[in-house]
Amino acid sequence: MSKLPEGFFIGAATAAHQVEGNNVHSDYWAMEHMEYTSFNEPSLDAVDHYNRYEEDIRLMADAGLNAYRFSIEWARIEPEQGRFDEAEIEHYRKVLTCCRENGLEPIVTMHHFTSPKWLIANGGWENEDTIDAFAKYCAYVVEKLGDQLNYVCTINEANMRLQIAAISKRFMKQMQADQAKAAAKDSKSNVESSVQVGINMENPMMERMKKQAMENMQIFGTPQPNVFVSMCTPEGDIMVMRAHQAAKAAMKAVKPELKIGLTLSLHDFQVVEGGEDAAAKEWDDEFLHYLPYIQDDDFFGLQNYTRTLIGPDGSLPNPEGSEATQMGYEFYPQALGHVIRTVHEKLSIPIMVTENGVATSDDSRRVAFIQEALKGVEDCIADGIPVVGYMYWSLLDNFEWQKGFSMTFGLIAVDRSTQTRMPKESLKVLGGYTKD
Ligand code: BGC
Repeated sequence: MSKLPEGFFIGAATAAHQVEGNNVHSDYWAMEHMEYTSFNEPSLDAVDHYNRYEEDIRLMADAGLNAYRFSIEWARIEPEQGRFDEAEIEHYRKVLTCCRENGLEPIVTMHHFTSPKWLIANGGWENEDTIDAFAKYCAYVVEKLGDQLNYVCTINEANMRLQIAAISKRFMKQMQADQAKAAAKDSKSNVESSVQVGINMENPMMERMKKQAMENMQIFGTPQPNVFVSMCTPEGDIMVMRAHQAAKAAMKAVKPELKIGLTLSLHDFQVVEGGEDAAAKEWDDEFLHYLPYIQDDDFFGLQNYTRTLIGPDGSLPNPEGSEATQMGYEFYPQALGHVIRTVHEKLSIPIMVTENGVATSDDSRRVAFIQEALKGVEDCIADGIPVVGYMYWSLLDNFEWQKGFSMTFGLIAVDRSTQTRMPKESLKVLGGYTKD
């Protein structure tokens, strides 16, 4: 029997671009259709949630869920700068009404990775003007739909950009090391020139990057577009916090009682022999340095998928013999409870788990994951930590960005040839947590 308190939100999460289909005015749509795209496949109709939201919402309600986290797509609402589309507002009004009619609390995200194409052509997430543009869009949505909204997340995983920058740095370092090694083996090669990553155009990957840059130039007017999930400068990182704060102020001006928060992707960093300093640095980058910008929010959106072991030189591979998910992460649902506790040490506002989930083809492992993760949540609540909701990622097997449709995170499988929904046992199990 569930030990979760009365009024606790149990729900599932999605993001517009990953489920709706035909998000044609967005930067991702453009990137997916490039000749030198880095996407395995384009999103196309995705899982047609734009047209099938009623069925999806009903399936959640029938299973017992009482909340639904989804995102409103900026590229639909403002397909051209300054032109707001009332018809799209009406669409989202219908989705919100449908949630209410089915007893689900909507938890709406204003930005989940995708942006209008025009925003990126204007300099995207490194251009200061984006702060104001984002605040205007958010205020517009709340003016139109605020009567239906209680909970809003401004930006999904605002720290993802810094994580990408760190991964790219590691990748470049590795590539340099590999090239240096290859050059050392080849006595005829000139070591000095071959370690210059970025100018060795003999390398097929570099050649591809060059072509990509030329295509970006045609599509976005710049060889290196600053989409939301791309490497960012330290200024760009903080600019996102300023966009969050500006959007919050603009929405509160329209509806002061709206509960507004930001979401971050957090790992359960676990120190291994001498990794203390490296782990402290990771936690500062991933979470601590954002505190001044979020500590007065109404809630914090916590997202977690796994743990990361940290040695003196940073993250370590998954432990020997551990179970890996389709994404390659370690299957480790205990991470959620750990991260909630670590966050609560520094941040006393209510915590909403806005994402937690597992990509697996074996639904019995998903059930086990949910049960273990929610046990962690129950223990946190028993210890007095204000956790107010748990949103499983994801409601549907959907478009997992660069990886296409290959990852199955969903509580509901979808046959994309007919868009038929096939609820899994895990949906029923999750819904069971709202019942006595
Ligand atoms: C993102 C989702 C993504 C999920 C699984 C989160 O980082 O918010 O959009 O699909 O993780 O990888």
